[in-house]
Amino acid sequence: MSDDSLSSHLHEMDLSPAAEFTAQANGTAQMYDDAEADHEGFWAAQARERLTWATDFEQTLDWSGAPFAKWYVGGTLNVAYNCVDRHVEAGHGDRVAIHFEGERGDTRTITYADLQKEVAKAANALESLGVSTGDRVAIYMPMIPETVFTMLACARIGAPHSVIFGGFSAEALHTRIADAEARVVVTTDGQWRRGKAAPLKAAVVAAIAHDDSPVEKVLVVKRTDSEVEWDDQRDVWWHDLVEAQSDTHEARPMDSEHPLFILYTSGTTGKPKGIFHTTGGYLTHAAYTNAVVHDLHPETDVYWCTADVGWVTGHSYIVYGPLANGATQVLYEGTPDSPHQGRWWEIVEKYKVSILYTAPTAIRTFMKWGADIPAKSDLSSIRVLGSVGEPINPEAWLWYRKHIGGDRAPIVDTWWQTETGAIMISPLPGVTTLEPGSAQRPIPGISAEILDDDGQPFTEPEKVGYLVLTKPWPGMLRGIWGDPDRYRETYWSRFGPKYYFAGDGAKYDAKGNIWLLGRVDDVMNVSGHRLSTAEIESALVSHPSVAEAAVVGAADETTGQAVCAFVILRGEAVDHGEETVQELRNHVAQEIGPIAKPRQIMIVPELPKTRSGKIMRRLLKDVAENREVGDVTTLADSSVMSLIQQGMSADSAD
Ligand code: WTA
Repeated sequence: MSDDSLSSHLHEMDLSPAAEFTAQANGTAQMYDDAEADHEGFWAAQARERLTWATDFEQTLDWSGAPFAKWYVGGTLNVAYNCVDRHVEAGHGDRVAIHFEGERGDTRTITYADLQKEVAKAANALESLGVSTGDRVAIYMPMIPETVFTMLACARIGAPHSVIFGGFSAEALHTRIADAEARVVVTTDGQWRRGKAAPLKAAVVAAIAHDDSPVEKVLVVKRTDSEVEWDDQRDVWWHDLVEAQSDTHEARPMDSEHPLFILYTSGTTGKPKGIFHTTGGYLTHAAYTNAVVHDLHPETDVYWCTADVGWVTGHSYIVYGPLANGATQVLYEGTPDSPHQGRWWEIVEKYKVSILYTAPTAIRTFMKWGADIPAKSDLSSIRVLGSVGEPINPEAWLWYRKHIGGDRAPIVDTWWQTETGAIMISPLPGVTTLEPGSAQRPIPGISAEILDDDGQPFTEPEKVGYLVLTKPWPGMLRGIWGDPDRYRETYWSRFGPKYYFAGDGAKYDAKGNIWLLGRVDDVMNVSGHRLSTAEIESALVSHPSVAEAAVVGAADETTGQAVCAFVILRGEAVDHGEETVQELRNHVAQEIGPIAKPRQIMIVPELPKTRSGKIMRRLLKDVAENREVGDVTTLADSSVMSLIQQGMSADSAD
């Protein structure tokens, strides 16, 4: 669709909420006013309404140690009790919590009563390995029920978990395990990927081979029945240890501010940040948003969030939010094209999924595969669609609405971050008149503004500025694990201590909707995954042939951005063309993981630098995106860009 026909198409559409949807919606227009009138009162009510507290809190928010917040001070609760036991106690033990769909077609139905037993056994097992309240547990697992059991078991005993995405390499795993000083790692022998067993435990073994590894025990689920290297002293099979445990376990209440989990994310420097979240505030925010933004009705909905539990979306919207709300959900192990490109839509039809939450990169991939594929399945059960992870372009929005949402389901474009814990900016279905491509406005209880370069707020339409959050919120990160200064510096200094700087560019449109415009720092967003340019650069320069490297995120039709690297080889290194490039790509996969593999590596004689030695990534981005190179006057040596471009055209002539 050309831009013109797209905008006229948009113009004709009525995207105001349908009356029947509004009549049953959990979110209401009143909530905006209530939260505006009494911010803390609003959040206190959410916490008391949605969660079961062992001890009620005395103070809703203590911001006296800003930017370190304390929410629900004096309150105690157990997260696993809230996500599991209380639903059984309320008579919902027979309700399905998880419809597990294995990639190879194996399935498992887990009710809340089953979940209670599984979590109790896993909690007993962790305790038998010496894990106690406050100890960190690393989880390196695929999308299987045991991953959810393990996370909840950790929450139950107050041992903060650190889930590390299965696509990260042994090296990345090692740095994350070491930073959190995890004593126990839970993993599997392998994971199913497009019909093949890919090893997982092998990376754990390599990660903990480092001398300084804090790991004492490795608990291993058998998933693929693959050969694994085994150490009798250190390694324990899940089926031996967990299955032998009692299926009851007492859930002790934790302080509202007890650490719940650490989740590593990329920042602007090479070292990943351990974002940490605590108990009461995080769970309140996750449960509230899942109820009002996804409009979850646990008695009738079948919910499916397609994220991996290795990312924050999986934490908040597979594990904590939906389970706190007593949802029935689908957990799918595999990839969308295994065994064929209609797999997701068959799953929707099979389980009658009514709420689907996914990422723009997936939607664009389905667009590429063609609308006739979802058309083969009955998707009429769908009533709410969600999008997360990156801006959704209006074309993808319209395709999603039409071909998946039957031109009827509201789409919630949800902006948030690992750091924010849960959804911050999004329409409310049944309340908001939708605007394709825009996340629209902060949800009730959240306040945001857009600032100019001087830190002045503005509301002028179409002017581009920086998104900031202006009031503390319950799900906010409580810091960076072990690095309070970096927390202050990264989020609370760019515009002074009153504003949380999100790192995203944003603008308003004439209707007052917020449009998120991508990162303004050196963080890339590839298929909705956050990657740091500095982290990939340092992986490249750790290769013996590389002298210098610069990485940029170049626009990509499907993945949003793609990693492009410019590399200067060391004097003694020989450039073997494609072979060298492949070797460097594999090196990045080994250092970080396959998700960080550059799409393109260009071997160049020089890099464009300012007189103070700063690499001008803007110019490299122009090259990577095949644009005319912008202003080069601040370069120390203005001939560098023509050298790079000459080199590139010589390459393409090869
Ligand atoms: C981007 C994922 C536009 C943004 C939950 C943010 C989005 C980063 C959206 C956080 C959206 C996420 N529209 N951009 N709806 N959702 N982002 O920590 O740049 O993996 O800062 O959390 O993703 O990524 P993270």
